[in-house]
Amino acid sequence: MVDIAIDGIAHAAQLDELLIDLINRTGVSLPHVCYHPQLGPVQTCDTCVVEVNGRLVRACGTRVADGMQVFTKSTQAAGAQVEAFDRILSNHLLYCTVCDNNNGNCTVHNTTKLLAIEHQRIPFRPKPYEIDNTNPFYRYDPDQCILCGRCVEACQNVEVNETLSINWEDPNPRVLWDGGSSIGESSCVSCGHCVTVCPCNALMEKTMLGHAGFLTSLKKSALSGLIEVVKGVEPETGYGSILQVSEAESAMREHRIRKTKTVCTYCGVGCSFDVWTKDRHILKVAPEHGPANGISTCVKGKFGWGHINSEDRLTTPLIRQGDKFRQASWDEALGVVASRLSGIRASSGPDSLAFISSSKCTNEESYLMQKLARAVVGTNNVDNCSRYCQSPATMGLFRTVGYGGDSGSISDMEQADLVLIIGSNTAESHPVVATRVKSSHKLDGQKLIVSDLREHEMARRADLFLRPRPGTDLFWLNAISRFLLDNNLARTKFLDQWVNGLDNYRKSLEPFTMEAAARISGVPEETLKTVAHMIAAAKAMCILWAMGVTQHTQGSDTSTAISNLLLVTGNYMRPGTGAYPLRGHNNVQGASDHGSMPNMLPGYQSVNDPEVRQRFEAGWKVRLPSTKGLDNHQMVEAIHAGKLKAMYLVGEEMSIVDSNANYVSDAFSKLDFFVVQDIFFSNTCRYADVVLPGAPSLEKEGTFTSTERRVQRLYQVLEPLEGCLPDWKITQQVANRLGADWHYQHPSEIMDEIASLTPMFAGVNYERLAGYKSLQWPVAADGTDEPLLYTKRFAFPDGKARLFPISWTGVTDAPNADFDLHLNNGRLLEHFHEGNLTYRTEGIKEKTPDTFVEVSPELAEERGIQSGTWVQLVSRYGKVRVRALVTDRVQGHELYMPMNSVESPVNRLTSSHTDPVTNTPAYKEASVHMNVLAEVGESPLPRINSRFGHPTPQNGVEVERKWKRPDYAPPGNGLVQLQTKS
Ligand code: SF4
Ligand code: SF4
Ligand code: SF4
Ligand code: FES
Repeated sequence: MVDIAIDGIAHAAQLDELLIDLINRTGVSLPHVCYHPQLGPVQTCDTCVVEVNGRLVRACGTRVADGMQVFTKSTQAAGAQVEAFDRILSNHLLYCTVCDNNNGNCTVHNTTKLLAIEHQRIPFRPKPYEIDNTNPFYRYDPDQCILCGRCVEACQNVEVNETLSINWEDPNPRVLWDGGSSIGESSCVSCGHCVTVCPCNALMEKTMLGHAGFLTSLKKSALSGLIEVVKGVEPETGYGSILQVSEAESAMREHRIRKTKTVCTYCGVGCSFDVWTKDRHILKVAPEHGPANGISTCVKGKFGWGHINSEDRLTTPLIRQGDKFRQASWDEALGVVASRLSGIRASSGPDSLAFISSSKCTNEESYLMQKLARAVVGTNNVDNCSRYCQSPATMGLFRTVGYGGDSGSISDMEQADLVLIIGSNTAESHPVVATRVKSSHKLDGQKLIVSDLREHEMARRADLFLRPRPGTDLFWLNAISRFLLDNNLARTKFLDQWVNGLDNYRKSLEPFTMEAAARISGVPEETLKTVAHMIAAAKAMCILWAMGVTQHTQGSDTSTAISNLLLVTGNYMRPGTGAYPLRGHNNVQGASDHGSMPNMLPGYQSVNDPEVRQRFEAGWKVRLPSTKGLDNHQMVEAIHAGKLKAMYLVGEEMSIVDSNANYVSDAFSKLDFFVVQDIFFSNTCRYADVVLPGAPSLEKEGTFTSTERRVQRLYQVLEPLEGCLPDWKITQQVANRLGADWHYQHPSEIMDEIASLTPMFAGVNYERLAGYKSLQWPVAADGTDEPLLYTKRFAFPDGKARLFPISWTGVTDAPNADFDLHLNNGRLLEHFHEGNLTYRTEGIKEKTPDTFVEVSPELAEERGIQSGTWVQLVSRYGKVRVRALVTDRVQGHELYMPMNSVESPVNRLTSSHTDPVTNTPAYKEASVHMNVLAEVGESPLPRINSRFGHPTPQNGVEVERKWKRPDYAPPGNGLVQLQTKS
């Protein structure tokens, strides 16, 4: 700590903190337009000039030193601040009263007021550029752009999409996309970072335009007239009175614009943000305080909310009548559900019923579903879709370190000096996690190794990119572990102190030589040795993995191999280290955490454990079944075998996303009774007997748990559409009609019950999660949580981790003469899974209208295919017709199909082979035959998709180039230009 004085008042400060942060903390009002705490010093606006020890410096570009005498309002400093802001206003028309950004948080407006600017001393100078409206979600108005560069900094160094720059050398600088493209045809991925940080109305969400203000929906000509009026009166009245009018208008908006915190409904990163609404219109998504994401979002969280007000929403229960459905009242529909479920239970026993919870629903809803299955119906037949992706990762961690969740936080991934990504298209599947890795890699020297079949964005950025043969990750990972142990590169001290089972593990590694690994995986031995040495040299390594690992017949074993490698190298127990299986759905972690699993009660407490059962029996006042139930894979088999007769499924498009979809659909058609609860009439609903309309995340309260085990609250943004009910209310009604006596009035009561029965969540309650507060489980009764696991011990009785020996068995469904091409599959940035939600957002549909199959240039040439050629893919299990996209992301005989299609779902081609440990389908082990059809259509990805853009990487806004302009002079006398980026 050091002592400094600000305006004559002494303050204790941290050495080297940014002076502007200290000044802001003390409450002194200092203008600062370009500075944003989550961007760091951009230093373009010069409005934060202060006098320090007799010299003028930018407060945002200066670090605190002992004994500093800082004056924020000296004549010199104040003059320089006004001069700097005058220059800004020459780039901006102040028409606040008729501006959609006049919401009390406009930096330009507020700075005008703070500096008491009455007149624009440098006249406004329009720029010779048109407004760019070519992105479906936001627009750029060059005339309003103050060239602060926040957007550029966010795009280059936070999102690291590297689309934006400013042409500082041009006589008329502006923000450029890809160096001068239209936004629509640029590499912009519509993540919205730039729009979120823009301090004025230059970049705005289109959903705000014409909607936020009372006068902003006027026709353009009328608006221009009003702007002229404002300009006309300014010379006489000054800005003071004009701002008073606009502030009155802004205050009126407060009564009709609601700002409600929620958590993203799409992926497992757990981004949280305020949703601004006017009635049911979503004005914008405003990320700022999210503990996982700060200002970050991807296109889905920022703009993908078209499903909320979609006309396709289910708003009334439906009951099957022959081949059709008829609308029914809730009373009738729930009556049918209760009588059919209880009838089947009476005739065929409780285990003839099964329950599927939704990973899109809340923790509380998942908890109630498994409670319904166990406590009301009396079966452990309950599961969730983590079976399709994450169970193998959980198993790998259960075997080795004890907890089935990410061992640290996203901040650990940022801090690591080596990140190894295996089988994860992170930039598209977990975009905000990817931003943190990309940023640390770009700016902080973090090393990145990527192993994947496809050369996706992370692979292109990697220091080292491995392309092992499908399903061989286990082999090369084990070989690396063996190499490290054999060459004294393992962390022996850590192994001695913290890890059991080294001898057996070493023996199990015998077959895994580097030579064998190179032969099996196809990755050259030298490359594997380089990987081993990079891992050994890293002080702190995180491994991120996803479905490219888990969706194999050895998904659990490969996840185990990853954790073993982390143990061998001592990469647990410290910041910047650990295991990160990236969770897919927003609440796939929470669905399992809260007991929607056939063998586990909430908090991973075994149904076999009498002590656990007794606790729940006492709490729920029922007898509970003690034998493990069916998982969702076994449920399908049991339906085919005639043993499972009824199913209640919530919010899962299982007939599309489960592997071997034709087989799954056939099973559904054999059910005696099938209830599906969803917000749309999904493909799975076609097989239902009763369809119940649930509510999407914005229409309910509850909590989600993200990939970093972070429990966060979502608040109700909108009332449920008339006719729909939050899913927890529906489940409660079903339970009560089946004889339960539940009286939950609010999800917080459900969470209190969970906490009382589950040691892992003992200290979780809604007060501790209020607003943007969050908790990362396990949470002790006093509310202490664990952002980084295993800091004191591993989660086994003796506190030690376990090396778990594994062997390699090879892949199923490998290509042969009949099915000669390997088919890989996964997500796309713009869509979530099959796209039931994301296709309802027009802009997303425009950018990514359909699925396709990626074909390598070599294969395209061999088979006479071009982008747009229709092909038929035929596997041992089914066929689909789809257009080809020729791309070097894939190579050789490797195909890739994204899963965003209900009409041509990739899972018609995948098999029923599973990882025997968890029954997770081996989605990634599929081979097909490709028939090239005569028809050639448009390319399935339009030119306006971000893939076709040309990014312009640079280090942030490069303000030094502005300072070199002949017409630039620092404001005030003697401004010292300090560039302190980090
Ligand atoms: S990628 Fe596009 S939306 Fe995202 S910050 Fe860059 S320019 Fe803005
Ligand atoms: S568009 Fe970019 S440079 Fe222009 S005002 Fe907004 S954030 Fe600043
Ligand atoms: S989809 Fe994932 S990365 Fe994108 S905003 Fe939502 S939580 Fe964040
Ligand atoms: S806030 Fe813009 S230069 Fe400091």
